[in-house]
Amino acid sequence: MKFISWRIAAAAALMTAATIGRHAPALAGEPLGAKLLKETCARCHTASPSGGFERISEQRKTPEGWELTISRMERFEQVKLSAAQEASLVKWLADRQGLAPEEAAPFRYALERRAVVEAPDDADLAGMCASCHTYARIGLERRDKGEWLKLANMHLGQWPNIEYVATSRDREWWKLASTEIPAKLGAKWPLVTKVWTDWQTHQHVNLAGSWRVAGHRPGKGDYAGDLVVRSKGDDHYSIAYRITYADGTKLAGQGSAVVYTGFEWRGTVRLGREEMHEVYALSTDGNRLSGRWFLDGQDGIGGDMVAVRGANAIAGVEPPFIRLGKPSRITVIGSGLNGTVNLGSGIAVEKVLSATPGAVTVLAAAAKDAPLGARMVAVGKAESANALVVYDKVSAVKVEPEIAVARMGGNGGPIAPALSQFEAIAYTKAADGAPLRIGPMPAKWLVANFDETAARDGDAKFGGHIAPSGLFTPGPAGPNPKRNGYDNAANLSVKATVADAGTMVEGAAHVYVAPQRWVDAPIR
Ligand code: HEC
Ligand code: HEC
Repeated sequence: MKFISWRIAAAAALMTAATIGRHAPALAGEPLGAKLLKETCARCHTASPSGGFERISEQRKTPEGWELTISRMERFEQVKLSAAQEASLVKWLADRQGLAPEEAAPFRYALERRAVVEAPDDADLAGMCASCHTYARIGLERRDKGEWLKLANMHLGQWPNIEYVATSRDREWWKLASTEIPAKLGAKWPLVTKVWTDWQTHQHVNLAGSWRVAGHRPGKGDYAGDLVVRSKGDDHYSIAYRITYADGTKLAGQGSAVVYTGFEWRGTVRLGREEMHEVYALSTDGNRLSGRWFLDGQDGIGGDMVAVRGANAIAGVEPPFIRLGKPSRITVIGSGLNGTVNLGSGIAVEKVLSATPGAVTVLAAAAKDAPLGARMVAVGKAESANALVVYDKVSAVKVEPEIAVARMGGNGGPIAPALSQFEAIAYTKAADGAPLRIGPMPAKWLVANFDETAARDGDAKFGGHIAPSGLFTPGPAGPNPKRNGYDNAANLSVKATVADAGTMVEGAAHVYVAPQRWVDAPIR
């Protein structure tokens, strides 16, 4: 499926994230963002006491957050913007009224589209406000009490049944939403913060140049390679990758990226036959990018990525674990690497197999009494904390994501199925007995009925299937004649078995096979 604009998609009743990562035209004369605010928005949003535009100037959010609001102005207020104009406006607003890195950090999982179970830090707030969308959607905005109240008003006006939805109807929803909740939100996530005031003085860094990348794609493995970034001005870049996976697969491709708010990298790249979207954060020194990329239209499939540049920088260690006893190959990927490899006490570097400034591969052996757990890896002056885990045996397996929602699709319908990629993560016991994460390991996969109801309905038979890579494909959309006309909705367990020196260790996750997602906002 093409990465279509939210607005065009709305017309087709199909909504996906849209302009983030697309590039805006180069700006000349009066900045396009300022011009659009005056010409398109000021019609309704009059001058505010703060010197800006009422409502618009009184909130801060991520690029995706601004896209969500602007798309509502398009859907509800007949605002008409081209995709390029919308991109310029999102950039203009996110740069001037964005979130500081520290403010976005706790909720990056939502921007990165990770399949995580949220852990809200305020149960009352979550009960009131996180039953229809994520808690992250709220935590990624900053406003004062009055603006949070207006947002509550908008909710009640647009969705008058809001008081009757799950977790609303068991309390006096509107009474709380119009009093305690805005006060709490205004105190917790206010418009003016020191971190944001400080961040605004931060100079935008030019990212042009050569970077070294390392990462991991669940279902496929570790990868390493090069990223070349060329500036097109105004935080817009063209980018080119050359990547090699641990299994030998080589991929090359190109794309573009935009950096919002001085650190929010959003890219779109075609690598081999796949198109992917990148959601990375830039470190304060401007020399490290990290985050997650995911396939266009399939955000259940993606990978982690770290890119570094300059001297003495480590992007990753592959594999990120070593077993006591027999020697194994360890590669440190980085930029400007120079010097001896130090894997810490109890690990002997027996031989340097290859060494360039971009990667050093060694044959290393962990002594029987090497301390178990995560440790620092160093190459000369380059250091990376907790980069290598020493273990003795696999004592448990956890499947990630722990809970996933796969969605039926295809079968002649307009929406493709939404797949889930699972991965078996091995754990060992630390010296104190606590579970210690080792890392992803190859596994044998199967799907099973989650409970008796699922067994009665034959969910495992109809709900979907899992490939040897751990990729789960849900059943086709629409009524299934073999199932008395019901669709293929299912409640399943996904089971992984990891073989560890002759011992089989099992782990499981939970997957719901659910109906299609007809409305997909940039922050769920
Ligand atoms: C035709 C009138 C109209 C135009 C034009 C318009 N808006 Fe709005 N806007 C509204 C109304 C009504 C609301 C309050 C209801 C809501 O939030 O949906 C609103 C609310 C907002 C809010 C507050 C949203 C929130 O989450 O609390 C922002 C920000 C905003 N608009 C931005 C814009 C921008 C940017 C533009 C120009 C691209 C724009 N608006 C153009 C009518 C308009
Ligand atoms: C009944 C379901 C529901 C509940 C409960 C709910 N929301 Fe929302 N919220 C929505 C929907 C739907 C949207 C998307 C609006 C749109 O189409 O742009 C939204 C959008 C938002 C946005 C993005 C605003 C923007 O400008 O786009 C924020 C922030 C938000 N909600 C916060 C809250 C808070 C705070 C509460 C609790 C007081 C709350 N929500 C409770 C359904 C809900």
